[in-house]
Amino acid sequence: MYNVFGDFMERLQKIIAESGYCSRRKAEELISKGKVKVNNKVETKLGTKASYDDYIEVEVNPLNKKEDKVYFLLNKPRGVVTSVTDDKGRKTVVDLINTDKRIYPVGRLDYDTTGLLLLTNDGELTNFLIHPKNNIEKVYVAKIKGLISKDDLRTLCRGIIIDGKKTNKAQSKILKIDKKNNCSVVELIIHEGRNHQVKKMFESIGYEVLKLKRESISFLTLDGVKSGEYRELSVKEVKKLYGEKND
Ligand code: URA
Repeated sequence: MYNVFGDFMERLQKIIAESGYCSRRKAEELISKGKVKVNNKVETKLGTKASYDDYIEVEVNPLNKKEDKVYFLLNKPRGVVTSVTDDKGRKTVVDLINTDKRIYPVGRLDYDTTGLLLLTNDGELTNFLIHPKNNIEKVYVAKIKGLISKDDLRTLCRGIIIDGKKTNKAQSKILKIDKKNNCSVVELIIHEGRNHQVKKMFESIGYEVLKLKRESISFLTLDGVKSGEYRELSVKEVKKLYGEKND
């Protein structure tokens, strides 16, 4: 059933139960006791329907309603902030995605870092992906100033102290040594996501990062997604990410 605005209407106790606030039976009890308000009006009738856009309060608590989950893979360009809004009025990663859902980025890439960024409204998956204990692999390609040595990379990969804490073991590969321009290109694989981690890791062994791109997160890559573009994850990909969670 839809209301005059075309919003889908659902029984109030179902909306409350779906939000995870309490069971459907408990929701019925709360409605009967006059503890539930819809758009600031107390509803005590059990058959009452509401829309997912209505403002619902249960025992004075605003209800966080269940929303369809969406998952986007963005190829972030340079010069875009990884946040939902920006107080300096700069373009954000959320501005690049056409959706009416309240999405947010999973972790962050610096203003000048490019590459793979996930955005979603799924808090559970976000928490899983960003928690270091879950060892989610992230592959970065960094262009650095100077000609890096294998010894320096070994030091980097064994784990080094940044911000007073040792980084976990990492893997790396030299992709290019450019003697003419005095720079190197290195692939670095890490499993954490500390603030400015890659730049700080290279800095700590004496190299400045000139350019940084994230190539992949877990099995997700940028294949077929140009800079500034995005795609939705398939159901299979989301299940696979959740699979990693349950492995
Ligand atoms: N590490 C950094 O230093 N910057 C990023 O944007 C991501 C990882």
